[in-house]
Amino acid sequence: MDPSTRIERTLAQALDRGEGPGSPPLLAAAMRHAVMPGGARIRPKLTLAVAAACGEPLSPAVDGAAAGIELLHCASLIHDDLPCFDNADMRRGKPSVHKKFGERLAVLAGDALIVMAFDAVAHGVAAAETPERAGPLMAVLAQSVGAPMGIAAGQAWECEPRAELSAYQQAKTGSLFAGATVAGAAAAGQANHEAWRGFGERLGEAYQVADDIRDVAGNAEDEGKPVGQDGALGRPNAAMTLGLRGAVQRLTRLVDGATAEIPACPGRTALVASVEQQAQAFLPKAIWALAD
Ligand code: IPE
Ligand code: IPE
Ligand code: MG
Ligand code: MG
Repeated sequence: MDPSTRIERTLAQALDRGEGPGSPPLLAAAMRHAVMPGGARIRPKLTLAVAAACGEPLSPAVDGAAAGIELLHCASLIHDDLPCFDNADMRRGKPSVHKKFGERLAVLAGDALIVMAFDAVAHGVAAAETPERAGPLMAVLAQSVGAPMGIAAGQAWECEPRAELSAYQQAKTGSLFAGATVAGAAAAGQANHEAWRGFGERLGEAYQVADDIRDVAGNAEDEGKPVGQDGALGRPNAAMTLGLRGAVQRLTRLVDGATAEIPACPGRTALVASVEQQAQAFLPKAIWALAD
């Protein structure tokens, strides 16, 4: 089964469990709206790719970890779009969750998806009969969304009088990418899973720099979400801070730094090549050309 099919199947199973008997129908619908259909699914694909590079290509523990990471991401998007954060009406080409279901259900759907992420990990390690992997995985996921360095901390920098661009981007986006890489190694049973953190942190920061560039130079139709938001809301944005060319150069440096940090493992060469190829899709060709 290919990685996308595994990811979609595990997410669908998690949502089905959340829609079990007794579930309020609108909450269930709001959760499904946030998860299906997905976007790029880059984070769970990263989890699967790291596990495969570590020599564990197929395991329900890896699938559960990957689904958990994506559920945390989907929850973060619901909350990020709320009127009290970015006030975005569109997400993945559809109305954002609060636009369709109202703010109260959006807050609750985000909360319930965060909890569902940990349930997905628990199911995965149980099915794989590797319960000893649960503790490390739970800790990795919790760190990636909490304080002091996870998504909650990253979004909280927007409430401070000053925020340093790199620290803000590390926390709001780098942390969950680091969660994706470290969880991939932990789900594969690697004792030294923390060695995978630097790779994820840098790749996540690179991804956010690319998102910032597209916020400045992209269009809403292609993005499936509003653009020009960061300037309008006064959010720190790499393209506004460094200029478009400077931001593209920073992106290139971050991707190079990310691949350099991939630890020694059986599938290292293939993983480096795959990350380099995927990073090309972070930006349209015309924007990459700005840095030549
Ligand atoms: C959007 O993430 C939020 C950022 C951290 C830039 P993605 O670009 O991964 O969103 P989807 O999941 O593909 O829609
Ligand atoms: C969001 O960053 C990062 C999250 C933690 C959700 P952005 O606000 O730039 O993401 P988009 O542009 O709305 O997807
Ligand atoms: Mg936003
Ligand atoms: Mg953005």
